[in-house]
Amino acid sequence: MNVYEIRGAFGLDNLVRAERPDPTPGPFQVRVRVKATSLNSRDVMMVEGRYNPRQKLPLVPNSDGAGVVDAVGPGVTRVKPGDRVMTLFAQGWQSGGPTKGVTATTLGGPLDGALSDTMLLHEDGVVLTPAYLTDVEAATLPCAAVTAWSALVTQGHLQAGDTVLLQGTGGVSMFALQIALMHGAHVIITSSREDKLERALKLGAHEGINYTTTPDWEKAARTLTGGVGVDHVVEVGGAGTFERSLKAVRVGGTVSLIGVLSGGGGAVSLLPILMQNLRVQGVFVGHRQSFEALTRAFALHEVHPVVDRVFPFAEARAAFEHLKSGAHFGKVVIQVG
Ligand SMILES: NC(=O)c1ccc[n+]([C@@H]2O[C@H](COP(=O)([O-])OP(=O)(O)OC[C@H]3O[C@@H](n4cnc5c(N)ncnc54)[C@H](OP(=O)(O)O)[C@@H]3O)[C@@H](O)[C@H]2O)c1
Repeated sequence: MNVYEIRGAFGLDNLVRAERPDPTPGPFQVRVRVKATSLNSRDVMMVEGRYNPRQKLPLVPNSDGAGVVDAVGPGVTRVKPGDRVMTLFAQGWQSGGPTKGVTATTLGGPLDGALSDTMLLHEDGVVLTPAYLTDVEAATLPCAAVTAWSALVTQGHLQAGDTVLLQGTGGVSMFALQIALMHGAHVIITSSREDKLERALKLGAHEGINYTTTPDWEKAARTLTGGVGVDHVVEVGGAGTFERSLKAVRVGGTVSLIGVLSGGGGAVSLLPILMQNLRVQGVFVGHRQSFEALTRAFALHEVHPVVDRVFPFAEARAAFEHLKSGAHFGKVVIQVG
């Protein structure tokens, strides 16, 4: 099998191609021929050693993959050869609350991931791909889409008529846009670029705020809600945006803390959280049950993920550079098989 692995030391220069023996599935295991893998911010951080500096190397990065089952081991009943499947981000998280060991079962670190033409996974670690999606589209779902679904639906209990504020036009935010619209919510989205705001409005966002030219975007968002505040913020900015999010949300509203694009630390005034009765919920991707609920809803509404650009396997490093540049809108994918 052909893989890319981080070898020797962290850094994009150390992301190199390698050959490994083709695996044979053991009991309850399935072998997946990967057709496409998508990139998440986490994958870039993993390669650069910023996600988990203690991660053992070599490591095949990327949590998200889609492909076809070509062999199954004894006892497998969930899937059969020929089935199209997607990877489950946390292989050991099937439903309910996350347990202590769940983070040890995530693909693309600590477990080998999807930047590979073949994966050996437990049958519980794959989810069937809805027929209407291409493999490239399906490869975008496991992390970003499930995270947005967990934030807004599984944990967020989004209701029709709610107003949702989204930050930026990356993978998580684009899925959050599609999920919010599917549920009949009103969407305000921010971006650093006017052209990206225009594209988001074309996809159905109701209002856009440029957070570069309007640095106090939380005030603009409140104004758009008649001074009330939004019901839900999908927070991906982290330290640089969190306090503003607390001011953008209505009394009793929810902030889903998902990303730390502008940093993960710093002093935060806690008073708004208690005085405004806010709910701040951490989100760690999500479980298999959420992923399956998401795929049912997406199939019913024929939601097509927003794919920014598809790179060939040979240009995997360029795909990482592209994501890092922030030029993308939606998801960046690498075609594998
Ligand atoms: N907790 C979880 O389970 C989970 C799951 C997935 C992702 N994440 C995290 O969530 C974050 C977003 O992930 P992603 O995959 O969507 O990333 P991404 O696709 O790389 O999106 C990045 C986009 O976010 C916007 N952005 C960057 N800095 C910003 C800031 N300070 N304020 C507002 N917007 C900003 C930019 O959009 P514009 O170009 O439009 O300005 C940028 O293009 C990352 O930190 C990632 O690690 C967490």
